[in-house]
Amino acid sequence: MSIQTALAGKSAVVTGASSGIGRAIAERLGAEGVFVVLAGRDRAALEQSVAIIESAGGRAAIVVADIREASSVQNLIDTAVATTGQLDIFVNNAGVAFMGAVLDGEPEGWKMMLDTNVLALLIGCQAAVRAMREKGNHGHIVNISSVAAANPESGVYGATKHAVNVITNTLRQELLEDPIQVTSIMPGLVATNIGRNVDVAVLEGLVAMSGIDVEVAAGERLPDDVLESAQEALSDFMIKPEDVADAVCFALTRPGRVHIPEIVIRPNKDFDL
Ligand SMILES: NC(=O)c1ccc[n+]([C@@H]2O[C@H](COP(=O)([O-])OP(=O)(O)OC[C@H]3O[C@@H](n4cnc5c(N)ncnc54)[C@H](OP(=O)(O)O)[C@@H]3O)[C@@H](O)[C@H]2O)c1
Repeated sequence: MSIQTALAGKSAVVTGASSGIGRAIAERLGAEGVFVVLAGRDRAALEQSVAIIESAGGRAAIVVADIREASSVQNLIDTAVATTGQLDIFVNNAGVAFMGAVLDGEPEGWKMMLDTNVLALLIGCQAAVRAMREKGNHGHIVNISSVAAANPESGVYGATKHAVNVITNTLRQELLEDPIQVTSIMPGLVATNIGRNVDVAVLEGLVAMSGIDVEVAAGERLPDDVLESAQEALSDFMIKPEDVADAVCFALTRPGRVHIPEIVIRPNKDFDL
């Protein structure tokens, strides 16, 4: 039996769907009956999510890509259009974080953040609007920003998220005559692998709170059960990726006359890792 929801039959692209928030959004959209193109660099993780979506009666496809390649972003959109005939939803979620003082930062980390968090998002927005305009259908672009965008002293990572909000607001003005909506989602701390590039000692602290004994390596993901247990242990300070997926679904399911420009979603208390 086909899935009957407000979003059923639509098609979506989700970048960074191999982990954390993007994975939760992709699986949620799949459960809502949306055909989802999941993009990321980790094929095995993407395949796991497709299996979950398909076992619940949904449809999905994988594109393994590094979105810092401009052509790969266009390819994501082409895949959604080729399969379903149109693109309804584009979620710019992929992101990386290299935290720390500006004076101590490395250009390599800055470049990775600017290329992934800003440039790929810009290219994605432009390509998604072109595809939506060509098909003349209603569309919705969701950009995953951060509460760091509300803090003027949030370093280079925060600067990339300020850029995301400026791009989102500008795009909204440029699209006033189009049936295309643009929403910025600004999460606080979420239990994901975004911290994979922070100091190993911080990650070891997180693992200790989970009560699970695993080795931590710089740049590597933590197992899902560690993140889930750490989130439970710190539930006042850290929300779940599924909570952000809920916010995305809320924005996507409003009637056409209602535009949600931004949603801030954060835990009850701020936690300084
Ligand atoms: N977690 C938080 O506390 C938090 C708070 C506010 C905002 N955010 C934002 O939420 C978004 C998702 O992050 P997350 O927390 O879910 O972290 P995550 O678990 O590390 O997931 C990041 C995703 O981005 C993908 N990605 C990174 N660079 C990529 C590239 N060059 N090409 C393709 N995919 C790439 C990763 O794919 P691979 O693993 O396959 O490389 C992964 O799927 C980011 O934009 C982040 O800034 C997170």
